Amino acid sequence: MEMGRLLYEGKSKKVFETSDPDRVVVRFTDEATAFNAKKRATVAHKARVNCAISVRLFREVEQAGVRHHVVEQRSETDLLCERVEIIPVEVVVRNVVAGSFARRYGLTDGQPLHRPVLEWFYKSDALDDPLVGDDAVVCLGWAAEWELQFMREAALTVNQVLTAFWAEHGIDLVDAKYEFGRQNGRLLLADELTPDGSRLWEQGTGRPFDKDVFRKDLADLSETYRELLGRITGG
Ligand SMILES: Nc1ncnc2c1ncn2[C@@H]1O[C@H](COP(=O)(O)OP(=O)(O)OP(=O)(O)O)[C@@H](O)[C@H]1O
Ligand SMILES: [Mg+2]
Repeated sequence: MEMGRLLYEGKSKKVFETSDPDRVVVRFTDEATAFNAKKRATVAHKARVNCAISVRLFREVEQAGVRHHVVEQRSETDLLCERVEIIPVEVVVRNVVAGSFARRYGLTDGQPLHRPVLEWFYKSDALDDPLVGDDAVVCLGWAAEWELQFMREAALTVNQVLTAFWAEHGIDLVDAKYEFGRQNGRLLLADELTPDGSRLWEQGTGRPFDKDVFRKDLADLSETYRELLGRITGG
């Protein structure tokens, strides 16, 4: 399959057309951004590490029957994927209070939630990805009612699978963001499953293994991500 023109250049990945109109190549880059790209850096090895973690986690959710966009890994940084029309609504699933959820409700990070909390955010850099309610999502035409239902169920399943996966490696999945896309009338879990879009805290110590390390300058992000990959590959 031939690589085609660059379709989209995002903050941490590039998406290329391929000779198959239904497929794209998603290329991870070494760029890190935070605070809606107000903070930026190049992080050595981030592309290959996030690509490898994503592949590992997509395999995990596939075993639980969740359909996703990854077809195959093409190189250290490139994934051949189904081309989807991304639904402009990010699905966030939280197991523990942290980040914007803590700030919004005046809570402190680390308080466990009795059950996972699912939130929708409208994908808009111009508006800083605001929180939105189900009614707004449907009435403004961003997703249909059945799509919301599908995404809710799938995201909660993914949360269960990945919580169990990370726990096996001594890590708590605190929260994570998921994106879904449409292809020929079906919905697929898309984008990436990486520590850029999740909070991962070491059990016992609470040490973060996610992008908060970069947001808050807590440690070297490149080393942190490589250690995380090492933990799940045993390397
Ligand atoms: N299978 C796919 N087909 C088409 N587009 C995809 C697919 N998977 C992910 N994307 C989209 O490609 C882009 C990936 O780039 P990146 O994650 O760097 O973007 P971003 O800067 O985070 O921007 P955005 O705010 O749009 O997510 C995202 O917009 C994502 O929604
Ligand atoms: Mg993104």
